[in-house]
Amino acid sequence: MDISSEFLLKYNISGPRYTSYPPANFFNQGFTTSDYLSELGASNQQKPANISLYIHIPFCPQRCHFCGCSTVIAQRKMVVERYIQALKTEIKLVASLLDSSRKVTQIHWGGGTPNSISMSYIREIMDWIRQHFTLNESAEIAMECSPAYLDYKHIDQLADMGFNRISLGIQDFREDVLKVVNREAPRHPVKDIVDYLRSKGFRGINLDFIYGLPKQSLESFRSTMEQAIAIRPDRIVTFSYAHVPWVKAAQKQLETIGLPDSSDKMNMFLQATAQLTEAGYCPIGIDHFTLPDDDLTKAFKTKQLHRNFQGYCTRETTGQVYAFGASSITQLAGAYAQNYKDITKYMEKVEANGTALERGYKLSKEEQTVRAAINSIMCNGLLRWDELAGEYGLSVEELKKLLAYDPAKFDNFIADGLMQLDDQQIHLSEKGFLCARNIAMALDPALQTGDGVYSKTV
Ligand SMILES: C[S@@+](CC[C@H](N)C(=O)[O-])C[C@H]1O[C@@H](n2cnc3c(N)ncnc32)[C@H](O)[C@@H]1O
Ligand code: SF4
Repeated sequence: MDISSEFLLKYNISGPRYTSYPPANFFNQGFTTSDYLSELGASNQQKPANISLYIHIPFCPQRCHFCGCSTVIAQRKMVVERYIQALKTEIKLVASLLDSSRKVTQIHWGGGTPNSISMSYIREIMDWIRQHFTLNESAEIAMECSPAYLDYKHIDQLADMGFNRISLGIQDFREDVLKVVNREAPRHPVKDIVDYLRSKGFRGINLDFIYGLPKQSLESFRSTMEQAIAIRPDRIVTFSYAHVPWVKAAQKQLETIGLPDSSDKMNMFLQATAQLTEAGYCPIGIDHFTLPDDDLTKAFKTKQLHRNFQGYCTRETTGQVYAFGASSITQLAGAYAQNYKDITKYMEKVEANGTALERGYKLSKEEQTVRAAINSIMCNGLLRWDELAGEYGLSVEELKKLLAYDPAKFDNFIADGLMQLDDQQIHLSEKGFLCARNIAMALDPALQTGDGVYSKTV
């Protein structure tokens, strides 16, 4: 790919990440608990019929200063225990509203650091899920883990509970980088952990990295990527550091240490892309790199890739997402529903009502269609007009009107070789994927822009 940092800077504007449509800043308190309960019931008649479960564990032993996730630090055992009971109450209530013939194809544990709590709590919840839902035989059961708190015996226990996929947050292999961002180094060599996970039957093993942190340089990030490639996990993710100090105050500390400038950051990404593709990894979506025989690569090659707040997934595992825990977001065909972020408030609400909805959003049929168009661009780099129109019972003309489609909005993208456009489809080039958020923005009829609303697009 022929990309310059000038090119990336040109497209580096503020914009939604489109992990949801409409973006989370549209969620509001006009969506009430009674709306939530009725949308849960309605989801039984909507597609996909598969169920994805998301369990949020908002605890970490210490705070990484770059962290954009929803988490609290070092909680007492009593609080964790109370939280686990609240999760069980929430799970039971939601399960009672869902059609018991629907199968669970995906369970994702995220955080925070789910592996920092006692494995006995994780087992308690997994047993509870099995009591209240029917799991598909090949369900993907995944956990986001920090290697600073991961021991071989934990891996044995997770495998025994049915977990088959792990994502490890590495961020950087350099100790000086980890130190300035207040992050513990892995407890065991990452290569040994990955080898051990493989020996236990885990697949789709993923390593997360972030570029754009203090102390990182082109040279240091090159060596971090070299080490990642030598380990050969199935998936490598290179996240662009999202600096949003107006939301995450702890990030301000990184400004005083000094962040790499935009051009250095772009070059780290370009260099990593070159290293990873050279080493045989396939770029999928925006920032994911996967081995050719990984499920996500296959889904991407056949234009069947999907995604939710938890990341990319295949058509087999994709379900409507029922989420549990503080800050978690339920993602249904017809609505989004987010729980209280504050864990005390979350627990109090669940203890009183069985649910802890703070805000949400009910999607109109039109918004569901826009969401499908944006997802199609973001995941598969493709929008086939007649296919999407047919799926939503519209004519192509009606679909274009709904998306406020204006071919002139794409002139620059086409001139820069990012996409092609004809009567049948919009098709992104490999280079175009880097700017998929920008292209999606041109199909978003309700776009809000302006600094301080969203992170940068590239
Ligand atoms: C919720 S964390 C879960 C993993 C686990 N807590 C850990 O840190 O190892 C998921 C991933 O989000 C990414 N992340 C966190 N904050 C970020 C930020 N501000 N910008 C970009 N990526 C971020 C990190 O790469 C992290 O591995
Ligand atoms: S361990 Fe993960 S979730 Fe916890 S503070 Fe660090 S990046 Fe955030």
